[in-house]
Amino acid sequence: FSRINRIAAPAVARSTRGFASSSARQTKVAVLGAGGGIGQPLSLLLKMEPLISSLSLYDIRGAPGVAADVSHVDTYSTVKGYPQDQLDAALDGANIVVIPAGVPRKPGMTRDDLFNTNASIVQGLAKACANVCPDAHMLIISNPVNSTVPIVASTYGPKFNPRRLFGVTTLDVVRSSRFLSEVTGDKPEDIKVTVVGGHSGVTIVPLLSQTPQAKSLQFGGAEWSKLVHRIQFGGDEVVQAKDGAGSATLSMAYAAAKFTNSLLRALNGEKGVIVPSFVRSPLFEAEGVDFFSSNIELGEEGVEKIHELGAISPEEQNLLDACIPDLIKNIKKGQDFASSA
Ligand code: NAD
Ligand code: LMR
Repeated sequence: FSRINRIAAPAVARSTRGFASSSARQTKVAVLGAGGGIGQPLSLLLKMEPLISSLSLYDIRGAPGVAADVSHVDTYSTVKGYPQDQLDAALDGANIVVIPAGVPRKPGMTRDDLFNTNASIVQGLAKACANVCPDAHMLIISNPVNSTVPIVASTYGPKFNPRRLFGVTTLDVVRSSRFLSEVTGDKPEDIKVTVVGGHSGVTIVPLLSQTPQAKSLQFGGAEWSKLVHRIQFGGDEVVQAKDGAGSATLSMAYAAAKFTNSLLRALNGEKGVIVPSFVRSPLFEAEGVDFFSSNIELGEEGVEKIHELGAISPEEQNLLDACIPDLIKNIKKGQDFASSA
């Protein structure tokens, strides 16, 4: 974890001195949107993460209260909350920034319908990050992820480091394990599904042919089609059930904490950490797709290696063919927004 120690802010090191053992890591994580439906449980889960020494909670509403509450949990990290006018202070020295700020869907809306509101929110936060903590790893949750990630990249301009920008698509992976387990009876924790493409509707492409527990499914058959549809539109199940009160928050917080833990382990030197994430990718560049989610190996600098898709079934190739045009549109919309701002 020498890299983490080198980039840690002196303020963080000071705040943990006295509690930390000599081998303790100094990793500051900022959550932007910490007062929200995702932000609150995510802050709690990150408080339970031993690889974090300092948690910085920012929101335009309510972050100091959330921070005071979470700070009483008897785990290693220190917690501080920042109100609306203290974004720069919240970001000072951050190694990882997680962004769940922005409005969620209501029934009848697509993720793209959130673009008008969330594009500006994410862009404003990205500008501050590019100024204050340009080397931080950026984990983007705010929807539409297919567009907000390109917005962050364009906002960074020459400072953009493709190894350190991640669209968090882990909820699709989490859902895939759970939903497949409901079909086969296998334990969800034993099921690993690679989900590629993007994060909305048909851009979500689960490669079930690569999952041993899915081998009994007839690809292209009714059961497979139903499962794929459920994975692609799992977000809608929650939006419908919450009936106007928002979208997935608790399962999303779990998924974001899981992804953050993978990144932290890799930054701390663990080898072989491979997870899907929506990143700047060469895989479909020739077809005009600048960002794509696939399995990536994480390392001490962030993205270490982008994996090829590997063998896929003809049915999955059809899913991919349907994914690409939507993805190109979503990415371009984000890039155009950023360049016109
Ligand atoms: P929410 O409304 O409960 O919380 C959003 C929070 O963002 C609020 O506390 C709000 O005050 C804050 N906020 C707004 N503008 C801000 C700004 N400029 N700076 C800092 N904070 C700001 O919404 P939620 O349910 O937590 O969802 C948040 C976002 O996450 C939505 O866009 C939603 O679509 C998305 N989401 C993504 C995934 C995924 O898989 N990537 C899953 C679920 C939800
Ligand atoms: C999800 O997949 O649950 C999120 O992207 C939220 C949504 O709008 O469905």
